[in-house]
Amino acid sequence: MNKSNELNLLVSEKREVARDILEFRFAAHDGSPLPSFSPGSHIAVMTPSGANRQYSLINDGHEPESYQIAVKLEPESRGGSQSMHRDLSVGDPVVVQSPENSFPLVEAPEYLFIGGGIGITPLISMAQFCDANSKPFRLIYCARSGEHAAYAEELKISFGDRVVVHFDGGDSERVYDFWEEFMVPNGNHVYCCGPKPLMEEIRALSGHWSEDQIHFEDFNPQSGRDYVNSPFTVSIKSTGDSFQVGKASTILETLRANGLRVPSSCESGTCGSCKMRLLAGEVEHRDFVLESDEYDSAIMVCVSRGKGDIEIDFEDY
Ligand code: FES
Repeated sequence: MNKSNELNLLVSEKREVARDILEFRFAAHDGSPLPSFSPGSHIAVMTPSGANRQYSLINDGHEPESYQIAVKLEPESRGGSQSMHRDLSVGDPVVVQSPENSFPLVEAPEYLFIGGGIGITPLISMAQFCDANSKPFRLIYCARSGEHAAYAEELKISFGDRVVVHFDGGDSERVYDFWEEFMVPNGNHVYCCGPKPLMEEIRALSGHWSEDQIHFEDFNPQSGRDYVNSPFTVSIKSTGDSFQVGKASTILETLRANGLRVPSSCESGTCGSCKMRLLAGEVEHRDFVLESDEYDSAIMVCVSRGKGDIEIDFEDY
């Protein structure tokens, strides 16, 4: 982790905003304003379990008094959300990385925001920004039901008929029909964040639009891929250690659990910070960082795995 971007904050609020969704606010210890951010930004949070997770910022980003995020409990996940829900309380210290924006709003005559489930969070800050700056927008928010739809009531109160909330009951037959929105291309820009099926549908419906008008936010580029995890042994040459990497763990998590520190940030194969040297063995490269000519000599340990046993080492050995 790049120490220069780290902010040492504390949890100033924690509350339930929908079923299995908790909102957190993080503030400076002395209450001073935090670094500003633009709509669509996110922060990486070091969870109490030691994992790094990225969360979209919800609130107004001009010299904010706190960073507001919402965390959905994902029982099938690698434990970051469980740790946030269970182990992080008001008053606890928390380390976050300064905001970054990989989902920025560009100038457009009008915006269409499409959010599914917890994917609503970056779109809230965008809608607030548009409202405050008299920029036309509409927001379509899809969720399973009212009890699953965080912030739905607040959005309707704030933005009236510019917001459509659609409940599908988790039934694929009752999903929102977006075709009217995409049938005739226009100058609008579309921002979509949500579960993979929603984003794939929007990608398919907008195939005849200019690609640069359709924007997606996806913090989990691995999702939807048909990878199969098998256990293998990873050896570290310089320390002489060998560890078994189980089906449900990554190399990064295994090394960390055994007291070895490896830099990391995105933990989804996109940032490049967890690179290690590959010395022996074959790897299934699952990252979005390495060039193919690096495949025999490097590995991103947050996502990639050995096809069998492998030997690796830290970058500076
Ligand atoms: S932590 Fe970002 S690529 Fe591994």
